[in-house]
Amino acid sequence: MINIQNITKTYTTNKEFFCALDNVSLHVKAGEAVLLRGHSGSGKSTLLSIIGGLLKPTSGSVHVNGVSLAKIPDDYAALFRREHVGFIFQKYNLIPDISVLDNVLAPLLPTKIPYEQCVAKALKAMKIASIGHKKDQLVTTLSGGEQQRAAIARALAHEPSVLLADEPSANLDPILTQTFLEEMEAIKALGKTLVIASHDEMLLGSPLFDRVVSLEGGKILDFN
Ligand SMILES: Nc1ncnc2c1ncn2[C@@H]1O[C@H](COP(=O)(O)OP(=O)(O)O)[C@@H](O)[C@H]1O
Ligand SMILES: [Mg+2]
Repeated sequence: MINIQNITKTYTTNKEFFCALDNVSLHVKAGEAVLLRGHSGSGKSTLLSIIGGLLKPTSGSVHVNGVSLAKIPDDYAALFRREHVGFIFQKYNLIPDISVLDNVLAPLLPTKIPYEQCVAKALKAMKIASIGHKKDQLVTTLSGGEQQRAAIARALAHEPSVLLADEPSANLDPILTQTFLEEMEAIKALGKTLVIASHDEMLLGSPLFDRVVSLEGGKILDFN
C-alpha cells in the first residue's frame, strides 16, 4: 500500500530551484495497478523514485507498506527496497557482461538467504518473466525485449509486493508493448501492486490498469 501526502520535490542546480513535484498526494491500494501518465518532464520518474525509496521528497510524507520513507536514512532505504520494492528502470540497468541468471541473482546475494535458495528464487522470477530459457546467455547478446524480461525478473527475484516500472515501452515496438502489458497482468494476478510511469499513449486504455493518474508540471491533474 502506497500513501503519499502533500509531497513536494525541489531540485537545486547551480543555486537555482526547480519544483519537480508540487503538493502531490496519491493513495494506491495493495494489488492495484496504476498508470502514471504525463508528458516528459512532468515529474513521473521523480515520483516513482520517491515511492521506491531512491529519492526523498523535500517535504510531505510517504508510506509504502507502512514504512515511512520521507526521512529514512539511506541504508534503511536500501533494506526497505530489498524487502518491498522491485524497480524496472527505463534503461534496465543490467550488468552487460554477465549472464541473465547472474544479473537476477545480484540483488539477492547481499542478503542472508543461502545461495541455493537465491538460485531457486532467481529461476522462479525468470520463469514468471518468461526469460528462463536464456538464463546462461550474456545480457549483451539479448534483444531489447529480452533485456527487459531480464530486468523484470531481477525486479521480481526478492518477491516484492510493489513493482515500479519507468517508461517500460520506451524501447519496445507495439507488439512487444502488448506482450509487456500481458506479462504485467500475470504479475498483477500474483497480487502485486503496480505503478507504471509512461508517456506512451498505447498504455492508455489497457485493461491492466485500475486507474490512470495524470501528472502535469509536477501536479496531479485528475483521478479516473
Ligand atoms: N537531478 C535533477 N536535477 C535537476 N532537475 C531535475 C533532476 N531530475 C529531474 N529534474 C527535472 O525535474 C523535472 C521532472 O523530471 P522527471 O521526474 O524526470 O520527469 P518525467 O519522468 O515525467 O520525464 C524535469 O524538468 C527535470 O528536468
Ligand atoms: Mg521519466
